[in-house]
Amino acid sequence: MSDLFESVELGRLRLRNRIVMAPMTRSRAGPGDVPSDLAVEYYRERATAGMIITEGTQPSRHGKGYCRTPGVHSAEQIAGWRRVTDAVHAAGGCIVLQLMHCGRIASRHNKDADARTVAPSAVRARGQMFTDAAGLVDFDVPEALSIAEVRGVIDEYTHAARAAQLAGFDGVELHGASGYLPMQFLSTGTNHRTDAYGGSLVARLRFAHETLEALSSVLGADRVGLRICPGNPFNDLEDANPPETYAALLQALKSLRLAYLHVIRSPVAALDAFALARECFDGPLILNDGFDFASGNVAVCSGQADAVSYARAFIANPDLVERFANGWPLAPFDRKTLYTPGAQGYTTYPAYHQPAR
Ligand SMILES: Cc1cc2nc3c(=O)[nH]c(=O)nc-3n(C[C@H](O)[C@H](O)[C@H](O)COP(=O)(O)O)c2cc1C
Repeated sequence: MSDLFESVELGRLRLRNRIVMAPMTRSRAGPGDVPSDLAVEYYRERATAGMIITEGTQPSRHGKGYCRTPGVHSAEQIAGWRRVTDAVHAAGGCIVLQLMHCGRIASRHNKDADARTVAPSAVRARGQMFTDAAGLVDFDVPEALSIAEVRGVIDEYTHAARAAQLAGFDGVELHGASGYLPMQFLSTGTNHRTDAYGGSLVARLRFAHETLEALSSVLGADRVGLRICPGNPFNDLEDANPPETYAALLQALKSLRLAYLHVIRSPVAALDAFALARECFDGPLILNDGFDFASGNVAVCSGQADAVSYARAFIANPDLVERFANGWPLAPFDRKTLYTPGAQGYTTYPAYHQPAR
């Protein structure tokens, strides 16, 4: 029987324990959307995780949604990430890059003047987002991608996979949750197309499938993961039949043999995402949302999960693995500094046996 501290292989990713650091946007990238020195320190401090999944990172300028998120499409960004992966590897860790194309969940105020906001269809999300330039603003009205442009976006992911390889990552994770571009293609509320990429269930799956194939063609599928959160309405997402959509997606992906599926359960979704994943996916599973040490350990010991990911617990506990192993208490994090620039609330949380900074 395995527990959270046992090593595991997810495809070709080797994890020294099954405590995964979940992806978290922290909005600390520097000019040019380059990961900063602080990011090197932040990830190095958390390298005892079995695997780190980085913050959502845009594969292209057009994929950026939020302020101060890093990219992986310029030489400077690749060099910045190289410093991060070197630091994590030197500490014995494993690190994959989360590729996040926000699609319509974006504001032009957060990106380069000539970058576009694109989506399967020109349907604006209800709601607002924060921008450094103009404060809270409505989401952009996205431009609907032509078929050639959809293929262009998939090419951007291919380039990003090559860049991730150059930057020294062990693999990549496609962000297919939270209402961003892949989920916009999957869902009936945001995909009104009537071509190869929409109009039928099979067509709605095509973007995610082709993107995963593209990433796999660069890295090998055994270094590619997918993150999903079936039925989550976050970011104004709506789908007529999430159980049907995700069952079909996972069945279609079986032949790819991905390194892992990372499943988030949503309390507001009217389905059991973990049960659906177990039923329809035959590869390794990382489970997420709301686990503590005990419940995460049960998930692994019972064979429900190959690994469990923790997000919020890692914010103020860089040494989370050691704290779990020793039963030490967890420190609370400060909400006010989740997305603010600078070290405060980012690299200022000490390990349990370290003096406060
Ligand atoms: C500050 C913050 C930023 C996040 N950014 C991302 C992100 O970039 N990509 C992603 O897939 N999920 C993101 N999430 C969601 C987390 O990965 C995770 O699914 C969620 O926090 C639930 O896990 P937990 O209960 O262990 O915190 C973020 C969560 C937080 C708290």
